[in-house]
Amino acid sequence: MKKTSFLLALCYGMFLVACTSSPDDKATDESNDSTIDQRVENILSTLTLEDKCGEMTQLNLDMVCVGEPYNLEKPNKLDSAKLRKVLVDLKVGSILNQGGQAYSREKWFELINEIQRVATQEKKSKIPVLYGIDAIHGVNYTTGNSLFPQQIGLAATWNTELAYEMGCISAYETRASNIPWTFSPVLDLARDARWPRHWETFGEDPLLASDMGENVIKGYEGDDVSSPYHVASCLKHFLGYSVTLTGKDRTQAWVPERQMREYFLPTFKRAIDAGAKTLMVNSGEMNGIPVHANHEILTTLLRDELGFEGLVVTDWEDIKYLRDRHRVAKDYKEAIKLAIDAGIDMSMVPVDYDFPVLLKELVEEGEIKESRLDESVRRILKLKMQLGLFENPVMNFDDYPDFGSEKHANSALNTARESITLLKNNNQSLPLGKERILLVGPLTNNLNALIGGWGRTWQGVDTSFNNPSKKTIFQAFSESDKLEVVHHETSLNPDFKEIYEAVLKTKGIKTAVICMGEMPYTETVGDIEDMNLPEGQYELVKQISEAVDNLIIVLVEGRPRIISQIEPLADAIVQAYLPGNEGAQAILDIISGEVNPSGKLPYTYPRYASSHSTYDHKTTDLIDPKFGLNAFYPQYEFGHGLSYTEFAYSNLSISSDSISCGDSLTVSVDVKNIGGLAGKEVIQLYVRDEVASITPAVKMLKGYSKIDLSAGETRLVQFNLTCQDLEFVGIEMERITEEGDFNLMVDTLKIPFYLK
Ligand code: BGC
Ligand code: BGC
Repeated sequence: MKKTSFLLALCYGMFLVACTSSPDDKATDESNDSTIDQRVENILSTLTLEDKCGEMTQLNLDMVCVGEPYNLEKPNKLDSAKLRKVLVDLKVGSILNQGGQAYSREKWFELINEIQRVATQEKKSKIPVLYGIDAIHGVNYTTGNSLFPQQIGLAATWNTELAYEMGCISAYETRASNIPWTFSPVLDLARDARWPRHWETFGEDPLLASDMGENVIKGYEGDDVSSPYHVASCLKHFLGYSVTLTGKDRTQAWVPERQMREYFLPTFKRAIDAGAKTLMVNSGEMNGIPVHANHEILTTLLRDELGFEGLVVTDWEDIKYLRDRHRVAKDYKEAIKLAIDAGIDMSMVPVDYDFPVLLKELVEEGEIKESRLDESVRRILKLKMQLGLFENPVMNFDDYPDFGSEKHANSALNTARESITLLKNNNQSLPLGKERILLVGPLTNNLNALIGGWGRTWQGVDTSFNNPSKKTIFQAFSESDKLEVVHHETSLNPDFKEIYEAVLKTKGIKTAVICMGEMPYTETVGDIEDMNLPEGQYELVKQISEAVDNLIIVLVEGRPRIISQIEPLADAIVQAYLPGNEGAQAILDIISGEVNPSGKLPYTYPRYASSHSTYDHKTTDLIDPKFGLNAFYPQYEFGHGLSYTEFAYSNLSISSDSISCGDSLTVSVDVKNIGGLAGKEVIQLYVRDEVASITPAVKMLKGYSKIDLSAGETRLVQFNLTCQDLEFVGIEMERITEEGDFNLMVDTLKIPFYLK
């Protein structure tokens, strides 16, 4: 399905900050490719075996700094002896990360300028270092930058233009930090809400996540990644990372080939076709094989089938983990051989000096062919060249007047506003008029909670690097003249006394806004035993609900924690996700009616802690005909999200009641804003295959389009449907179509057609 959203978004009159091209320009540097290939060969022919092993090594910044890894001396500074050891002796080609905290731009220039000076002047090969960073919602490890909503919020905008814009701005600010490579985006699908990296994804649907991913990548890479305003992206984590049996990070996943191809591969395929430069491997094991040791996934599938030509980097320490965690190698050396044989190009070692030494031994002992190393080193050198690092190993500090600018902050604000999803709004409880409210709960006054993990630090909880001008919800609410605020902040699991005090404060107040959910976490640290929130948060809602007339819940959470026990008590519920630095303002704008909400859930919100399903489940998940149990009974459906206005759908029609391969169908529907306010609506087109040889899903998203309608306005919205949109992974594991009946669904309208 061709995305109509680009054009529509342009109609919003959005300013493509920091971007020199439009997202439809393909990210290629093909004209340069043959020259680059020749230059790469010239350099490669001069390299020693040691140089090659070094190029394939990536170390953490800690390894060249004063102090011990994970425990650097503060302030962090380079240790010149270590730097020489790493770059000149071991010839290491890449460095990543920060030393446990965010740095100013000045500090990043100080560090990386010196690293590049040693690499390009003191190292014999003079090859510049490839520096990589987790800049996943803006360049989070640079203080004063613009922090966007996390990916899950970006997906909730259903606006690919915003994804592109975030990519552009993040790339600009990453280069402004002297860094040319980001470990983003996450293309894993969130099909299990327990997973602690749920918020790092674009949600559960392959189409929405592919569109978002492709646009972020085009924003990152532009049409010339050597530009000082673009960076290389890194698709992660290939493949099957997000659906562990336990719901916990880096535990075993079993992903049958059909599921893998139907759901988990498309996001990566689309990104690779869009020209993405690098890819990171899944840390976990899939089907009993750690992915870092899986030749079939990393070579047969990734290289031979998907045609990926870019650089493959391991995840953190994952070669060592082949021995320490997965126990498929008896020692580090055997682990290295396994990973190289499987197809990795660069090892994110990142905290020992042994990798290049052992790799060299393996080649000398005949265990690995030097020609195999050449393949990887070619890719590494090519990327460094494409990024322009040979010409400009460091950026020019003064080239970035828009770093952390108001213009960039406005884009982050706009994205946060479009992401926030109104889940419930009984009797138009929202928006609030100018009134006195009680603002209460554990997350009322915490900027970090809005930013989430990969904040200024890895876990996102340290407050020392926050931008002091960015507001917490309490600050934004109390500084606004739209509301009068009585504030009561509680702990994450408020006890009887805290709740009692909160209730006392409701005296004379009709409306309470409760901000509840989760504090930041990243990766394994975010594993949970229970999808329920701490009991005290529910108790707070119960007690407050008895004391006020109008109860508004604002959810600040990285994954959909269970709210069914208190949902009936709320008059309105606002899902804020992890909205970033501008989140508090965006929440205020939604609650006060300054902005009409238009976010839609990019996932299915579960009702019960043990009941998970996705919107595209099978008919057998729908209902148990014998006992009348509802198996699929989520709290809120995928794609759900209310507005302060109302939209009416009519005249769903198709250009023909049958389609054959080679043709396309035009689907049309009238959408009218029948309320009294302008608003944005996401028109969602679903297709249901009535009968197929592989049990069909109840429906699958095949198109969507976000439009802006003024009060009373009607718009004809059209989609183009082709045979490809009706494909599924058949018995032979290939994408096929089958003749038969289908149904199209938009809102509550439905229309049949036949595939010949
Ligand atoms: C994470 C990756 C991240 C890398 C570098 C790993 O632990 O899984 O997503 O890019 O570390 O920080
Ligand atoms: C993370 C890094 C982090 C490190 C600290 C890794 O898993 O990806 O970003 O600095 O753990 O232990």
